[in-house]
Amino acid sequence: MTLQWSDELSINIGQIDEQHKEIFKRYNLFLSACKSGAGRGALLELISFLSGYVADHFDHEEKLMNEYNYPDRSTHKKEHSELAGLVHTFKVKLETEGPTLSLVAEINRFLLDWLVDHIRKRDMELGAYLNQKWGLF
Ligand SMILES: [Fe+2]
Repeated sequence: MTLQWSDELSINIGQIDEQHKEIFKRYNLFLSACKSGAGRGALLELISFLSGYVADHFDHEEKLMNEYNYPDRSTHKKEHSELAGLVHTFKVKLETEGPTLSLVAEINRFLLDWLVDHIRKRDMELGAYLNQKWGLF
């Protein structure tokens, strides 16, 4: 199942929306690679992308939270560290067990379920706060 971007996922913070779209794009590229039989190499690429990009992306959001004194930052940051922890376990599993189908299933669940859910709830609340309270974005 591909990750489809829709306007209802937009949190109305341009840079963050672009970063979310990039994650979706990379995942969809991975799926097309799987269909054309190049899944193994693409999985390595996807996990290495997620390890770097997700960390930078969370960091970017957390800087905004600090800068604009976001009241609910501890809950939001806690979810980030849980999500980052999952990405780390993917990396470790890839190193120890190689590119297995169960790893692909876990990554699917991570992106389609947890990450999209995080965007819909936590990031949406952050976007609303920054736009309403500061009106800067
Ligand atoms: Fe977030």
